Amino acid sequence: MTKKFYITTAIDYPNGRPHIGHAYEKIVTDAHARWHRYLGEQTYFLTGTDENGQKLQESAKDAGKETQQFVDDNVAQFRELCSKLQISFDDFIRTTEPRHIEVASQVWKKLEEKGDLYFGKYSGQYCLACESFYTETQAPDGICPEHHKPLTKKEEEGYFFKISNYNQWIIDYFKSHPDFIVPRKSYNEILSRLEGEALKDIAFSRPNNGWGIKVPGNDKFVMYTWCDALVNYYSAVIAEGKSELWPADVHVIGKDITWFHSVIWPCMLQSAGIAQPKQIYVHGMVLGEDGRKMSKSVGNVVDPQTMLDRYPVDTFRYYILRAIPALDDGRFSEKELVERHNNELGADLGNLIMRFVKLSLKNMPPEISSEGVTQEIFLDETFKQMKESMDRREHNRALDALWECFHKGNQYVNDKEPWKLKTDPVALKPIIYNLCYLIHAASSLLSPFLPETAEKAISCLGQPMMKFEEIKFGELNYSLTEPAQLFPRIEYNSEGQA
Ligand code: ME8
Repeated sequence: MTKKFYITTAIDYPNGRPHIGHAYEKIVTDAHARWHRYLGEQTYFLTGTDENGQKLQESAKDAGKETQQFVDDNVAQFRELCSKLQISFDDFIRTTEPRHIEVASQVWKKLEEKGDLYFGKYSGQYCLACESFYTETQAPDGICPEHHKPLTKKEEEGYFFKISNYNQWIIDYFKSHPDFIVPRKSYNEILSRLEGEALKDIAFSRPNNGWGIKVPGNDKFVMYTWCDALVNYYSAVIAEGKSELWPADVHVIGKDITWFHSVIWPCMLQSAGIAQPKQIYVHGMVLGEDGRKMSKSVGNVVDPQTMLDRYPVDTFRYYILRAIPALDDGRFSEKELVERHNNELGADLGNLIMRFVKLSLKNMPPEISSEGVTQEIFLDETFKQMKESMDRREHNRALDALWECFHKGNQYVNDKEPWKLKTDPVALKPIIYNLCYLIHAASSLLSPFLPETAEKAISCLGQPMMKFEEIKFGELNYSLTEPAQLFPRIEYNSEGQA
């Protein structure tokens, strides 16, 4: 039976235009989804928007729009960004859709039937931006640890989730599933927080201000946004009759929402009797070039739309996937992006193709048959290394391994000096054949990361895109045509006018 692979991004708050973090997470998830599709797995990729928060109501008010209109307008921009970034999602869920509301209500009822929801009063320090209460230990100075803004005292009546029932269970679950969170650093942080402080029951509803999913049986309240948002991963497949996709294989999220995904969500699922996702992959944060969190007041914000206006989509995808470490924070430097465009995409890859294809076309017939060729370039080890890196969710390392091949290819050309064999087609052909094989196989491995570039790179070989294992050395013939120029050189201008 074909292995299934169900991967999700966090669902974004559409309370403004998408920012670099949203673009980052989508590109990363897309590369992993495409990789698993490439491996032949039955892959399903979900993304979407988180639309029920109180914060959205407030942002709409500030923008002078009706909440629904405000959300619709912003969601259109998230969809447009996905299309420009070539994000291959299978479904885009909006938490205001009836299909989500129905399943979220069913999950609520399951928690209720289990006796894990109760009505009560809560008083504590609250952060509007997170829509969360914080304990003394979590925020001893009264400042939100995520948003660094003062918390406000808040008293509220409503429904509570008896997460305290799951205190020992979640610790045991972590201990028996050491790969539940990647990277290990995040796993250790959450486990030590769990061992350090007992779980306190959490508010699961908000007063109904006319926006949100109504609590089943009591429409004075709406569900607390996190409780409804987390359910999206489940509702999207259940509502579509695709229950066989559950549990999710990977939830891709940023580190600011690790607690919600690795503690609250598993406890909710355990209470509702639903299987646990297999893994939470916590990526790092994209920081400004100065290493600080991007912020308008600091003036270090990078707008993904601007990057796409200035550079080819694959230059942006490549930079995001290779230059930002997969398991850590990384700085975004436009200058470095231009350097990598010129050196790694333009020179290592683009020039390599130009070098040998042009030389061959000038001195030999375009047909490069496999007759009498001996293999001198091998990629099996690269494929193995890429696979291992992707399993560890280290896409940047997978690209490191792939780029080694292009370096080796350039070295091979330097060593063989094919320009000296212009009048000796018998000696020249095997060299060209080896290089055709390299570009064919390496482009195949590149296709999950830079789909457009991979297609362009092989367009001069006279062979279609194939799976790695189908590209057998010595069994295919190539027929060369004039190569397309990949990644023409860009001059970086510090004013941003590249
Ligand atoms: O948190 N670099 O939505 P969101 C990398 N609706 N990733 C970043 C980032 C950055 N600078 N800034 C944010 C929410 N992100 C909730 C999620 S899921 C059931 C509900 C990531 O729009 C962030 O960590 O604030 C999150 O994974 C995603 O972008 C959406 O953030």
